[in-house]
Amino acid sequence: MTLLTENKMKHLVSLADYDAEALWHFLELAKQMKHDQKSGNTKKIFEGKTLGMIFLKPSLRTRVSFEVGMTQLGGHAIYLGPDDIKLGQRETTEDIAKVMSGYVDGIMARVFGHDIMIDLAKHATVPVINGLSDLLHPCQILADLLTVWEHKNQLDGLKAVFVGDGNNVAHSWLNAAPKLGMHFTLACPEGHGPDPDILNYAKQFGTNVEVSHDPHAAVEGADVIYTDVWASMGQEAEAEAKKKLFQPFQVNAELVSKAKSDCTIMHCLPAHYDEEITYDVAQSANSVIYDEAENRLHAQKAVMATLMKNN
Ligand code: CP
Ligand code: NVA
Repeated sequence: MTLLTENKMKHLVSLADYDAEALWHFLELAKQMKHDQKSGNTKKIFEGKTLGMIFLKPSLRTRVSFEVGMTQLGGHAIYLGPDDIKLGQRETTEDIAKVMSGYVDGIMARVFGHDIMIDLAKHATVPVINGLSDLLHPCQILADLLTVWEHKNQLDGLKAVFVGDGNNVAHSWLNAAPKLGMHFTLACPEGHGPDPDILNYAKQFGTNVEVSHDPHAAVEGADVIYTDVWASMGQEAEAEAKKKLFQPFQVNAELVSKAKSDCTIMHCLPAHYDEEITYDVAQSANSVIYDEAENRLHAQKAVMATLMKNN
């Protein structure tokens, strides 16, 4: 599998396309833009500009945060749901990318197969931002890293343990966290680990990157415990069968007690309470799930400001 995108830093398709310096640029700009917004000083850098948003799957956070982000920056966002343009049925991805490039200043897309995202980026002349594919969820992880940085004042040397499925969210953590000096463990049932190419990519950055099948051992010494749904969008047919297999990987009070006492609890949401995470842990003092959700707005404004400023 090709991990790097053609014309990579024009778009945000994958965090593998960005080195540590570029990732820190996003995080620092997001922090600045968050501060500006809270103090009423948001600069209207996108007056007259439009973001086209293609959604082939449902969304709360991604849709609302991108749209609100464009509004705050003086621009506008257009929502195109699955029935609006019927990507791949009514028209090819190539034609959609080329036509939209004549109207909008950036394209944000949420798709199934990652090949659609690669295709959009290949054919669009405006920046393409990955708002989740079956393989990756880079915007989520920028918001997550911003949240960890805010709560721990550092990233370097922290141990993050992702407990659950080796999915798109886990993959984007692997693409970014080791580059920033974080140790990363994925605790998952056998057969549900990450894509081997993404795992190998993550292992080259010199921090401790592991896959474990023992969640209790994995979370020892953890600064961050992260989880996500066991069956992602598009995998609903597997949900029932996964429930039993993944039960030992539930993030509950007993599991959390094995980590550091100040361990930060994270979840990208939406959550299936009392499956991958118990409601009490999600609402506990160490949980930052709503900060993460809010930080999607700030992180994505930084991404748009960086990629779309010259468009
Ligand atoms: N975390 C996240 O991407 O949420 P939505 O699916 O609601 O956009
Ligand atoms: N892994 C989940 C993330 C949702 C934000 C999914 O793809 O459905």
